[in-house]
Amino acid sequence: MTEIFLKNKLSTQTNVLVITAKFENEFNLPDKVNDYIVSELKKEGTKTLTYNYIGKYISILIVDTKKEQNVLLELVRKHGALVADGINTVKHSDIYIYNQTKLNYLSLAAAEGIALANYQFIKHKPSQTKKAHTLKTIVIANSAIKETEINNLNISCNAVIKARNLVNEPVNILNATDLALAFKTMGKEANFKVEIFNKKKITELKMGGLLAVNAGSVDEPTFTVMEYKPANAKNKKPYVLVGKGVVYDTGGLSLKPTLNSMDSMKCDMAGAAAVGCAMYAIAKAKLNVHVIALVPATDNRPNFNAFAPGDIITMMDGSTVEMLNSDAEGRMILADALHYAKQYKPELTIDMATLTGAAVAAIGNFGIVGMGTASQKQKDSLHKSGFNVHERIAEFPFWEEYDELLKSDIADQKNIGGPLGGAITAGKFLVKFTNYPYYHLDIAGPAFLSAKDSYRGKGGTGYGVRLLFDFFKNM
Ligand code: BES
Ligand code: MN
Ligand code: ZN
Repeated sequence: MTEIFLKNKLSTQTNVLVITAKFENEFNLPDKVNDYIVSELKKEGTKTLTYNYIGKYISILIVDTKKEQNVLLELVRKHGALVADGINTVKHSDIYIYNQTKLNYLSLAAAEGIALANYQFIKHKPSQTKKAHTLKTIVIANSAIKETEINNLNISCNAVIKARNLVNEPVNILNATDLALAFKTMGKEANFKVEIFNKKKITELKMGGLLAVNAGSVDEPTFTVMEYKPANAKNKKPYVLVGKGVVYDTGGLSLKPTLNSMDSMKCDMAGAAAVGCAMYAIAKAKLNVHVIALVPATDNRPNFNAFAPGDIITMMDGSTVEMLNSDAEGRMILADALHYAKQYKPELTIDMATLTGAAVAAIGNFGIVGMGTASQKQKDSLHKSGFNVHERIAEFPFWEEYDELLKSDIADQKNIGGPLGGAITAGKFLVKFTNYPYYHLDIAGPAFLSAKDSYRGKGGTGYGVRLLFDFFKNM
């Protein structure tokens, strides 16, 4: 983990990223070098300049300070990712961020982009081929920034990295029990309560959806309840987070059909990782908010008495589901968690799930598909956080006509709604298990990337952690 520090002054001896609207030489650069930089930056279209001067790495980013804040933030994060690559290429270990604009938040965004881009998942590589990044330290030289802001940024980056690590770990190393134990460890570190239900307890609770998905697996399911309740919590009713913890999705008996469609399905617990790691960040930062997180977890496999298309499943809430496709498993386990959440009388419940290919088909990797019954105010805050952290939410319709698509002749509802509006019918299935303000976030697109995308990297992105942390931080 790259660590971010704060200093009042710039050291002239170091590698530096300069964020500026108009470059000024405050770096003891000889006139010749300065003249070169100034002339380069005058050229049409030149917005950045990277320069190696006697072994010192200098990157200059010219920003148009009149641009919208969110646009600038993302631009600077992405430039941070390039700087991280540059520093690692020349094998330096530190970088100073020096901001010549008055927009102090850009210093934090640069550090965030660098820290997140510096992430690697190389623990399973034999040591001789390990190419660990050399960059270790990021220093923000900005006297207008507070220590708490640096602290929160370190916490947030660390939480994202924890989520990526969980998502990148394959199912032969991280099964449902391992995932629950990982949350337990995080609870100890950040000081929040973690309770793990085993199969016996899950059976006693009659979590029919979770047990049905688990029926084809040799590994036991888990149901994890995390709670962070500070004495000074501002909210009377808790916020509840629910994360899809399918540690691997083969599709079950409705085995995933297309070539390579299973390759990345270790990522199907990314929602669980996001809510668990958001809890970690919230507790570490000691935010004044009472939050509970629920994670139903299992793998989805076609062995033993695997649930079979046509099965009628009785869910924890007593309702029945005509199960017609075992690849629509996420909603089966989430439904029981959403029902379980009723006992808390939540202010709002938010779920995060890699739920549908339909969400990916609709908006690609560029954001989250969101829908639900949350108040307009709650939706607005979530959408605002989405823009703040560039994990944007595309609001989908939640019209009652979609309810028709889930009607079953022989049970309360079917678990699939047909070929149209698949992301929405999934949300419509879930909302039946709620009796409180609810918002559903489908992160199937951005949770796991098959090609590197700036500071989001390749593989698990940790999507959702920064969104939730920002949402609760701004509360
Ligand atoms: N885990 C998948 C969704 C998914 C797809 C996540 C691509 C990440 C990337 C989910 O369990 C699934 O299989 N959904 C089905 C539902 C369908 C059978 C109604 C889908 O979207 O095809
Ligand atoms: Mn599936
Ligand atoms: Zn799935």
